[in-house]
Amino acid sequence: MLTRRTLLLAAGAMTAAGAAAAPVRRPAAAPLGPMAEPAPGRTVALDLVAAERPRSLPCFGGRTLPLWTFSETDVLPVVRMRLGDRLRTRLVNALPRAGEHTSIHWHGIRLPNAEDGVPYLTQPPTAVGASHTYDFEPPDTGSFFFHTHCNTAEQLGRGLAGLLIVEGDETEPYDGEVVLAMRDWRIGEDGGFLPFLTDRGASGAGSFGTVRSVNGAPFAAATVPALADVRLRLYNIDASRVVTVGIEGAEAAVVAVDGVAVAPFPLAAWTLGPAMRVDVVVRTPAAGGRAVVHDLRPAKPVVLATLSAEGPAVRAGAFDPAPLRRARIPEPDLGAAERLPFAVSTTATGAAVGASLGDGPALPGIDDLCLSDRTFWAINKAAWPADGHRSLPPPLAVLRRGATYVIELANTTRHIHPIHMHGHTVKVLSSNERPLPVHHADTVLLYPKERVEVAFVADNPGDWMIHCHLIEHQETGMMGYVRVA
Ligand code: C2O
Ligand code: CU
Repeated sequence: MLTRRTLLLAAGAMTAAGAAAAPVRRPAAAPLGPMAEPAPGRTVALDLVAAERPRSLPCFGGRTLPLWTFSETDVLPVVRMRLGDRLRTRLVNALPRAGEHTSIHWHGIRLPNAEDGVPYLTQPPTAVGASHTYDFEPPDTGSFFFHTHCNTAEQLGRGLAGLLIVEGDETEPYDGEVVLAMRDWRIGEDGGFLPFLTDRGASGAGSFGTVRSVNGAPFAAATVPALADVRLRLYNIDASRVVTVGIEGAEAAVVAVDGVAVAPFPLAAWTLGPAMRVDVVVRTPAAGGRAVVHDLRPAKPVVLATLSAEGPAVRAGAFDPAPLRRARIPEPDLGAAERLPFAVSTTATGAAVGASLGDGPALPGIDDLCLSDRTFWAINKAAWPADGHRSLPPPLAVLRRGATYVIELANTTRHIHPIHMHGHTVKVLSSNERPLPVHHADTVLLYPKERVEVAFVADNPGDWMIHCHLIEHQETGMMGYVRVA
């Protein structure tokens, strides 16, 4: 069917062909496509049943592990929808352990607070045998994911996660797409799971897996069209590992960070902390050639994926990847911004545990599953739970709806912390330690002793978590929330 959209796409393709004949770079003034506008869409019905399902993934080396997954068919379900579609999810908790309640947080999605999936803060936890429905229309395109938000070290460690891709951001269709989801598995000598949260890991750099994986295999091997512009969606969904992505054997450009379009810039190396994503376009090699995606962080680079090119050449001319569409995220008004200093720090072990009950609202249903008995970390000196086990701490800050805020994230520790904010996407302004391209993010990596400034418009009412996404840090104190009222 010929629609306005196909016409626009055809026009886009012609522009690309023209540009290929005369190697003129895109004018710097138009580094992004026009804003993506949602077209009235359909409702995508998603049924997720959290349950134990023994599985043998290629990365397990012949072993079968008692995974916890959302789907009978896929260890990591991939949900695709278009901007304008609604997602209606029915979650059933069929986990095999009494008291193992759960929830789903839709990471990076600027959704209504009640759909955010944080037990006790935005919804009651979903008990074993119970169900819960999430219903929202994602307002943005991009590479997102979802995971549980309670006892996350174990629930995510055993597998409970999925990818959520909202399409509609391409100005000209790329010639192919490869999704790469990286994570570790903590498997012991006896072939069972190792403890997911350890004092050593939680108080340090995290408990790393013993087995790495990409899409469930030791590395991903994809076949791609030759001399084509192929989109890679790279996800770090590990609980602890920081990955530095580099590509050998192909030109590559970053086109989105955490799902949000950036003016394309050449990829040298891009670092993804836990929960961070990057979209990259590569110009694949000629037929028979191979490009390799590496993790450059270890002393000896680790292969994450091989892209083997075959078939007739798709493109000619210089590599000049089409930009994605501009995101619909409101522009912060920096002149009128209020500043919020948020310092992440270590705390005296156990200091906040067992302290007397505070003045927060009583939460009679809250239980140990959402509360660690260890406290190693804090934000602005407040560890989660700040004042005892049965009450919700006060918000770190109360924000005026519609106002711009600049958060000064300061890392006073020796460790790396990927700091994630719910319900909003922030504009990363600057670091005191490294040059950063202007980009948006929902998770911001803080290096030891680093300070990063981010800005956002507090346009989404409700209580929104802000926490470290190194899950053992999150679960041992480095978590709080802001209230937008
Ligand atoms: Cu992806 Cu509160 O987390
Ligand atoms: Cu951390």
